[in-house]
Amino acid sequence: MRQFREDAPGQGAYPFVIRQMTHEDMSAVIALEQASFKNPWSPELLRRELDHDWSTILLVEDPKPDGGKELLGLAIFWIVQDEVHVLNVATAPEHRRRGVARAVMEELLARGKHRSCTLATLEVRRSNEAAISLYRSFGFRSVGVRPNYYADEKEDALVMVLDF
Ligand SMILES: CC(C)(COP(=O)(O)OP(=O)(O)OC[C@H]1O[C@@H](n2cnc3c(N)ncnc32)[C@H](O)[C@@H]1OP(=O)(O)O)[C@@H](O)C(=O)NCCC(=O)NCCS
Repeated sequence: MRQFREDAPGQGAYPFVIRQMTHEDMSAVIALEQASFKNPWSPELLRRELDHDWSTILLVEDPKPDGGKELLGLAIFWIVQDEVHVLNVATAPEHRRRGVARAVMEELLARGKHRSCTLATLEVRRSNEAAISLYRSFGFRSVGVRPNYYADEKEDALVMVLDF
């Protein structure tokens, strides 16, 4: 089962429900952020993203037989002019390596293409091998370094770009 808003192309063939976050999802999203990052996004920051026209938060869920659903992962991205900018991708630790991040990346790239974007960009910690490998598998290439971009740990960011 898949569900998409009317602005979504929904071209993927993944076994998850992917839908846009609403304010009612806040507590589940915060729990996922806290399980995934040392510096998780705050409710205030997420609320602000929900209110921005250019920002989308996609949730990946597993529908349950009892009608409930479990949040597996998320992605936050902006579409500004011809660019998709990926701000955040995370999968719940107990659901990693099941293709959750791949599914949400496919979906957000499809949405960007549907909106006539010509490229996707992102920053990623230089040490984040799992994420770099994920992005490379979509064809993202490293085009530069932002020194000390993650000021908390003085870690550099790699800037990665995918041309559509
Ligand atoms: C990076 C992350 C989002 C990957 O999520 P995931 O759902 O486990 O990824 P998928 O199962 O969709 O994997 C897709 C591809 O990513 C790469 N990948 C994912 N995890 C990896 C790992 N631990 N080591 C190496 N490559 C990895 C592989 O290429 C993989 O393809 P494969 O399974 O066919 O080999 C997840 O590890 C995570 O949430 N990390 C913490 C948050 C984070 O660092 N987010 C990214 C920065 S914004």
